[in-house]
Amino acid sequence: MTLSPGELARTGLRFDLDQPLPGAATVTLSRPERRNAQTPGMWRGLAAIGRSLPEQVRVVVIRGEGSSFSAGIDLRLLGGEAVPGSEPLPSPADPGFEDWIASCQEGFGWLRQPEIVSIAAVHGHAIGAGFQLALGCDLRVLADTAQLCMREPTLGLVPDLMGTKPLVDIVGLPRALEICLTGRILAAAEARELRLAELVVPADEMNGAVSDLAAAILTIGPATARATKELLAQAPGNTLAQQAAAERRIQTALQRARSSR
Ligand code: CAA
Repeated sequence: MTLSPGELARTGLRFDLDQPLPGAATVTLSRPERRNAQTPGMWRGLAAIGRSLPEQVRVVVIRGEGSSFSAGIDLRLLGGEAVPGSEPLPSPADPGFEDWIASCQEGFGWLRQPEIVSIAAVHGHAIGAGFQLALGCDLRVLADTAQLCMREPTLGLVPDLMGTKPLVDIVGLPRALEICLTGRILAAAEARELRLAELVVPADEMNGAVSDLAAAILTIGPATARATKELLAQAPGNTLAQQAAAERRIQTALQRARSSR
């Protein structure tokens, strides 16, 4: 399902092809008056972008308009209020509640697909679902103004938008537990120390830094980039012998495809 620019705008999103450069696309969370607070409608919009991504797009940048990356879920929804552009939250007693969460997670899962490299460009607050969206991306470039916070447990929720695995993979279980159960704010410098950011730059240099990173990735051929991402992504779950076998298998397939061209 492809959403028109108008339909996307109603979910609080904008999609710009060939931004910041050809071969890339930029998805902008665009509800600055609400600090880009997220809704199920926005997650459906993200999923629709993922499903209809043009084949030539190899780098996807996720950014926020205004002073924050994203202030997390729209808190009005938790209070039972209606929010334009979104369905209300279902009752947890609903037998379809888990399936509904799965449908929301679809907005995040496509950011890890092997055909693309996703980059979160984070400035200002990335709270709750905002932090999880940044974690959902392959890479994170932070402005020195960035502040990350996993606020869900302080609201009686677990983080459930595919953020817990990357968080634990990156910072380790004890630190992930501490970050989630204190709900404290991580400033950009600490995020870099914890390897939650590939790069931290002054806020006014972020667009340039993201563009340079995208340009570097786009110099690698699409098949090679895809094969490399697939290979690296399976390393954490593999033994050394399994990973060595994966290297052989993927190299053979890549080189055969290249030589048959
Ligand atoms: N939901 C709805 N509205 C929000 C919002 C949110 N998450 N965050 C900010 N807004 C609104 C404010 O109500 C305010 O609206 P008005 O102008 O109508 O008063 C407007 O955005 C500007 O907000 P602030 O004046 O607070 O802006 P600030 O720049 O001073 O502070 C902020 C920014 C630190 C992000 C602060 O707004 C804030 O703490 N927001 C709440 C963050 C939060 O707790 N999010 C939930 C995380 S948990 C989660 O996301 C669960 C999940 O995954 C399912």
